Amino acid sequence: MTDGTITWRELWGETERLVGDRPMARWICEEAAGLDGPAFLDALGEPATQRMVHQLDSIVGRVRGGEPVQYVLGHWAFRHLDLMVDRRVLIPRPETEQLVELVLGRARDHGAPIRCADLGTGSGAIGLSLAAELPLDGTTVWLTDASADALEVARANLIGLGQRAANVRFGEGSWFAALPVDLRGCFDLVVANPPYIAEGDTELDASVRDWEPSTALFAGADGLDAVRAIVGDARAWLTPGGSLLLEIGHRQGADVARLLRAAGLCDVTIEPDLAGRERFAVASAPG
Ligand SMILES: C[S@@+](CC[C@H](N)C(=O)[O-])C[C@H]1O[C@@H](n2cnc3c(N)ncnc32)[C@H](O)[C@@H]1O
Repeated sequence: MTDGTITWRELWGETERLVGDRPMARWICEEAAGLDGPAFLDALGEPATQRMVHQLDSIVGRVRGGEPVQYVLGHWAFRHLDLMVDRRVLIPRPETEQLVELVLGRARDHGAPIRCADLGTGSGAIGLSLAAELPLDGTTVWLTDASADALEVARANLIGLGQRAANVRFGEGSWFAALPVDLRGCFDLVVANPPYIAEGDTELDASVRDWEPSTALFAGADGLDAVRAIVGDARAWLTPGGSLLLEIGHRQGADVARLLRAAGLCDVTIEPDLAGRERFAVASAPG
């Protein structure tokens, strides 16, 4: 792109032409301009500096090379949070925002005090949102992951939480093994968006396969290995009447419901996402 007296309005148009997506072009321009929302719109008639145009060129080059825009920008919005993201973690998805909504609904039914666990936290999207949106008093949220790299990202994102950060705990390890053993039977809510893609899935988007961590994506031949591990131990870690909420693949509802019932969980439901696809499994421990 040229620089000199080019305005942000022209740069936005040029960026849209290069990346083929108007909202994405705007996020990129906002990043290069160091402005967002209304401040960016107010600056549309202003010229960009040479340094800003260079930064814009560099971002556009990476995006055109196939790198997900979220990794290029280095941060991404999730509910009320602006999360740092890089290749150590899955890019948080909009449907996962809906999973948080389901957890918050359950939390309201349980009332305070409330202890939650977000297993396989990645960037911290789910657990940090719960800590941000559940009552300040009486809430504890455990964020766990088997990946030390992912936990570093989640810890970095704790900074965005202010005083609510005091309600967050971290644990490293495989699913429930990351939690202190004396908390068995003490979790009101356990939530996870585990890996659920079958190895060799041919429908997986190439940019997901090429850029996002494989440990966040794949879960055995049928994509259910992680769900099986979590569901198998959930009853022992939940309080009587406590809830397990999972994000699942859109064709896994019947299998996951069967696994939940076989593990002795009750009130099993499979919930749709906004597009009407079966994407969430919810169940309770007896009692
Ligand atoms: C689909 S990603 C979800 C990340 C984040 N919760 C979100 O919704 O954006 C799955 C996460 O599970 C983690 N994971 C994979 N295997 C695990 C295991 N055995 N125990 C704990 N976490 C695991 C991965 O490192 C990854 O962060």
